[in-house]
Amino acid sequence: ENAAEFLLNLPKAELHLHVEGTLEPDLKLELAARNNIELDQKTIEEVQASYQFNDLASFLAVYYPAMNVLQKEEDFYDLAMAYFRRAAQNGVKRTEMFFDPQAHTSRGVPFADVVNGYHRATQDAASLGIASELIMCFLRDFSAESAAEHLELAIPFKGKILGLGLDSDERNNPPAKFADVFARGRELGFKLTMHCDIDQVGSIEHIRQVIEDIQVDRIDHGTNIVENPELVAVVKEKELGLTCCPVSNSFVTEDMKATEITQLLREGVKVTLNSDDPAYFGGYIGRNYIDYHAKSGVSLEEMVQIAKNSFEVCWISDEEKAQYV
Ligand code: ADE
Ligand code: ZN
Repeated sequence: ENAAEFLLNLPKAELHLHVEGTLEPDLKLELAARNNIELDQKTIEEVQASYQFNDLASFLAVYYPAMNVLQKEEDFYDLAMAYFRRAAQNGVKRTEMFFDPQAHTSRGVPFADVVNGYHRATQDAASLGIASELIMCFLRDFSAESAAEHLELAIPFKGKILGLGLDSDERNNPPAKFADVFARGRELGFKLTMHCDIDQVGSIEHIRQVIEDIQVDRIDHGTNIVENPELVAVVKEKELGLTCCPVSNSFVTEDMKATEITQLLREGVKVTLNSDDPAYFGGYIGRNYIDYHAKSGVSLEEMVQIAKNSFEVCWISDEEKAQYV
């Protein structure tokens, strides 16, 4: 068995995965045909060619319009099931995956269809050997009022949603903008996480806010703490997981951030590796393990530690963790 096979098959949890970011060109065309939606692209190659970007803003400008093919409950189900089939081939045993309800309700899709479609898929994922939960993300470039409205919509679906997250464009949209919504979310019993994207303006201040003011249970990306030894110490002390996404980073910043991830790993921070938006960034979680390992030069023992971290920082009881680590 070579290193790549070992890393692909290594049992792991995926904790930073936008299910809408798993929309592969073939499924996009299939859903467009099924829902009678006219696309500018007619072939898989044309869809692939349209997946063009060089930073977060240009990525998001492709990402949201593509979601228009998702219309019915079964479309959300099919999208998630296609991801689970790939995840199973990448050694994934558990996922806590993000979805963006506002990207659908803003197009007139009922909230219930989104949640029920994804939830039904998480249940059927068990047949592939994957335990899965949902994290509802708010779009940070939408208003705090819209986030609050969607949190209220989620209450009847509480049993189907494990946590709350925050994604989309971080510029001028600091964590503090959503402090009240996340405080209410915590009261309601949701786990909390937020994106602190790579090399954002104000990154260190945003990370300070998510830890001190929001009191998150995990941080998505967050790799920039490497610049600040005090934050590294706090993250270690609280045993906060960081959900790093090297292949995605290399698209958004032209750098996998392997050096930074390795430094944090060796300082004892619970870093994990994840795929973010694999249909767009060209690599599922196995590719993230393989490329990071090749680029960083860390040992296979250290890669095993990363996989172990992914189970340690996932949102299950210690008894449930015992089956994985
Ligand atoms: N939504 C989907 N992918 C994202 C990313 N990489 N950063 C912020 N928001 C996102
Ligand atoms: Zn992300």
